[in-house]
Amino acid sequence: MASRYHEVYARWKDDPEAFWAEAAREIDWFRPWDKVFHAEGAVYGQWFTGAETNMCFNCIDRHVKGGRGEQTALIYDSPITGRQKKFTYAEALAEVTALAAVLTDLGVAKGDRVIIYMPMVPEAAWAMLACARIGAIHSVVFGGFASKELATRIDDAKPKAIISASCGLEPGRVIAYKPLLDRAIELASHRPDACVILQREEETCELTPGRDIDYAEAVAGAKTDGRSVDCVAVKSTDPLYVLYTSGTTGQPKGVVRDTGGHMVALKWSMENEFGVKPGEAFWAASDVGWVVGHSYIVYAPLLHGATSILFEGKPVGTPDAGVFWRIISEHGVVAQFTAPTAFRAIKKEDPRGELVGQYDLSKFRTLFLAGERADPDTIKWAEKVLNVPVIDHWWQTETGSPMSQNPVGLGILPVKYGSPGVPMPGFDIRVVDDAGHKVAAGVLGNVVVKLPLPPGCLPTLWNADQRFRDAYLAEFPGYYKTADAGFIDEDGYLFIMARTDDIINVAGHRLSTGGMEEVVAEHPDVAECAVVGIADPMKGQVPCAFVVLKSGVDRGLGEIEREVVQMVRERIGAVAALKTVVPVKRLPKTRSGKILRATMQKIADKEEWQMPATIDDPAILDEIKVSLGERGIGV
Ligand code: COA
Ligand code: AMP
Repeated sequence: MASRYHEVYARWKDDPEAFWAEAAREIDWFRPWDKVFHAEGAVYGQWFTGAETNMCFNCIDRHVKGGRGEQTALIYDSPITGRQKKFTYAEALAEVTALAAVLTDLGVAKGDRVIIYMPMVPEAAWAMLACARIGAIHSVVFGGFASKELATRIDDAKPKAIISASCGLEPGRVIAYKPLLDRAIELASHRPDACVILQREEETCELTPGRDIDYAEAVAGAKTDGRSVDCVAVKSTDPLYVLYTSGTTGQPKGVVRDTGGHMVALKWSMENEFGVKPGEAFWAASDVGWVVGHSYIVYAPLLHGATSILFEGKPVGTPDAGVFWRIISEHGVVAQFTAPTAFRAIKKEDPRGELVGQYDLSKFRTLFLAGERADPDTIKWAEKVLNVPVIDHWWQTETGSPMSQNPVGLGILPVKYGSPGVPMPGFDIRVVDDAGHKVAAGVLGNVVVKLPLPPGCLPTLWNADQRFRDAYLAEFPGYYKTADAGFIDEDGYLFIMARTDDIINVAGHRLSTGGMEEVVAEHPDVAECAVVGIADPMKGQVPCAFVVLKSGVDRGLGEIEREVVQMVRERIGAVAALKTVVPVKRLPKTRSGKILRATMQKIADKEEWQMPATIDDPAILDEIKVSLGERGIGV
């Protein structure tokens, strides 16, 4: 089938408002919009102003009313606990309504924030949807983040309530969440009025009197009382959620997602970009704490009337490298979305893909990869063992859905390995030099998007319009800066090569090296430090901390290194995966004192590098090389 991509993209470009108005017909609105796009609204304009709607209504209620009540909405599959549970749309409605009643009783109302700090259990999805139902703004914090990160988010979002659980489960290890939550609340200046705690049988916790309530008891009570809570009408432009993501400092950015535009963009993407039909099973193997989990575990599949899989496990070791195939076959998954790192982990365990043959993957049509650069080797390996198209696509927490892709639903375009495809409608993607001038095809530069951003992208940062302007809009006037570097080839395919800031991507998790430096610098023996992301065959990148010790420190280096690693685990979380600490005598700097992080990274990765013209003392780079070499890095 010839792809309709070019015709559809041209239709969008010709008349964006007509294009999105047409897409918006797929959504149920309580009140129609006054304007499809209001150019004077918010920072760079707003979509569907004047309209009113509700995300939870569109995800659940309308499907129940429309005859999908008995269809499975969500399948919880947890190879870690050995449990599986299916929920129909009608059952999802009952769960969400009951929790919405509990939140209402706690005084949570439209516009209030609720932090959700949960492992991968269905209650995490119900919590998000219950907030949406009553117009509360949720902020999900990834369960792998430690107390300090949670505390920063509590202070920024100022939640009325927090929904959490007694524990999370990692292979072979129970992670008690309650002490992390208690410590975070202790560290934060803001106090939530209440915490709703899900007790998991693997490890229960003591509830704090006067603050905590038991999730299951409260929800059961609301069900017994037959409580009904209607979906609250919110403005299309009202925030649905705030999702904190790594910025260039330890202070994360609160990415705001508004309601109406997000629904329109997600619904459009399911059919046209992912090629999935209502009623089919779609699986995003990510975590609800990341944007992929928000968009493609919870909201998009449900908006679309599909069945979503919520997976509590890992691609390997739960119990083996065949778990993805088991789930695809058992639940009839037609499309899976995951990070390339997951496939690198599977490839390492089962290089010939022998476990694939043990399962019936006849319904499986497409594998989607995103979150980090998909290396051609991994894509080719996945194509070979699965015998389906493998689609790399590119987006960010900020955009909420893909910016570029090979749009399967519109008809697949020829695959170019190493490229996450072509711009999706809504995104006029350009590559410019540092002065903002467009560069020629094939030339590397800053990847930017012409304003306005389409429906579903962040309208601003939480309570920080100026930070939003400064971080994203100031450098290239009229354009949104993605902070990715890449090029567009002569056929219009995009290639994303690196970040232009200090963000690194560790196993598909977005982390700030600046944030890690803030922690490492607090070690009492550390005078100065620099953290860079170095190449890792499985995780893509891992952090490496260079530390200069204070003079007179005569403790064992091993001990200090272990303490630094532990500090990062405790402050940021194990997910930061800082395992390498390299003591050095001095850090290489420019004459104006800027640390030459990029050069250190290139030495570690054995990439070609040139002596920076502005370097203060070139001998320091030799010292760095020797120190790395002693650890077997860069040799
Ligand atoms: N709660 C608590 N701890 C968590 C956690 C969570 N939700 N998620 C991860 N961690 C911990 C892990 O236990 C691990 O701890 P350790 O250092 O004590 O072993 C650490 O954080 C790093 O975790 P992870 O990045 O998952 O690495 P891993 O080595 O355990 O597993 C992969 C490697 C490739 C299997 C794994 O990273 C993976 O499944 N990646 C897919 C990534 C993904 O889905 N990204 C989302 C974007 S699409
Ligand atoms: P996150 O906000 O966690 O989704 O991370 C977004 C960043 O991940 C992007 O800015 C890119 O740097 C990187 N990224 C995501 N998808 C891809 C991809 N398909 N190819 C290359 N990099 C990607």
